[in-house]
Amino acid sequence: MSRGGRLALLLAGLALATSAGAARDDKGSEEARVALGRRLFHDGDLSINGTLSCATCHDPRHSFADGVRAHPGAHGEPGLRNVPSLVNVGSFSPLTWGNADLTTLELQALVPIAGEDPVEMGMKGQEAELARRLSASPCYRKLFKASFPRDKGRIDFASVSAALAAFQRTIVSHETAWDRAAAGGASLPEAAARGEALFRGKGGCAQCHSGREFTDLAFHRLANEPEAPANGDLGLARVTGRMEDRGRFRTPSLRNATLTAPYLHDGSADTLSEAIARHGMALSPVETADVEAFLGALTDTAVTADPRYARPGKACEVS
Ligand code: HEC
Ligand code: HEC
Repeated sequence: MSRGGRLALLLAGLALATSAGAARDDKGSEEARVALGRRLFHDGDLSINGTLSCATCHDPRHSFADGVRAHPGAHGEPGLRNVPSLVNVGSFSPLTWGNADLTTLELQALVPIAGEDPVEMGMKGQEAELARRLSASPCYRKLFKASFPRDKGRIDFASVSAALAAFQRTIVSHETAWDRAAAGGASLPEAAARGEALFRGKGGCAQCHSGREFTDLAFHRLANEPEAPANGDLGLARVTGRMEDRGRFRTPSLRNATLTAPYLHDGSADTLSEAIARHGMALSPVETADVEAFLGALTDTAVTADPRYARPGKACEVS
């Protein structure tokens, strides 16, 4: 992307930061906002030609990822990066694989909707068209009114992104075998327990995959990764332009990693053991298997089947 294009996106982002902040403060019913955000998340009308909703790429049944290396945009443009899971995304900042400026979910939502690097939903400059489409539905009109009473239910990028953010903050998973063991319940199976000891000890994984979400939310370059990769993705340096940021990506959370193959920022690792091997750390195959068993204990399949995240039915949530 040209420097000018990047600048335009940044400016659009700053404009949104202001208005999204205002929409966020317009305290309507939180319940209505979450219901609205869920409808929007599953709605193809958020893309220029109706072909993509957020859920096309972030499918709840795939732990809010999609199982492919990189998902094409609405016009079929090739995707650049692997789709991350959105489990517990409300506790992440900054967001995405490589942009320290995307600090809130409200800001981030503008990227798929109106971004051009690459084009995903293709709605840049289409704010009025989006409002026209959504306001054709009586249910949307009621939900926007209940969610943003001060702005009288105004439909724009800011209110859409604020509702999407409210919904995404409800995507929470803290009910895994590991969470239960950590809270003093049943202990982990032996292989998983050995794997956790390696993860925190000799393996050194917890240096970066730290805390309750197994990420330090910081940018690192894996030891053997090229500074100038074949797909041209320079990582954090795409935004900062700094040499030292080449090949640096934000540490991903490892919750539900068992459900979100393929792996790494470009989806180039097909399996967990391949993703682990790409770190260039000295783990034997047996040790890697134990670490994988530990990652298995971070799996929550309930979140993938939870009706609160599924595509909503026709019946409107508000009357
Ligand atoms: C065409 C596929 C696609 C669509 C449609 C899409 N996304 Fe994404 N999403 C991605 C990819 C790829 C990334 C990683 C981008 C990057 O790192 O540069 C991502 C990243 C994110 C993140 C950051 C997650 C994290 O861990 O930091 C959030 C939040 C998100 N998307 C929400 C949404 C919302 C909300 C929508 C609908 C408005 C949406 N996405 C539509 C592909 C998609
Ligand atoms: C220096 C920090 C650091 C250490 C130490 C580290 N990781 Fe990572 N890990 C990362 C980063 C950064 C990525 C993303 C890299 C990329 O996409 O290019 C990643 C990606 C992964 C992925 C892929 C997840 C996904 O959703 O794509 C897995 C699995 C993983 N790490 C497991 C481990 C294990 C197991 C260890 C210990 C043996 C470990 N990591 C040690 C920083 C680290």
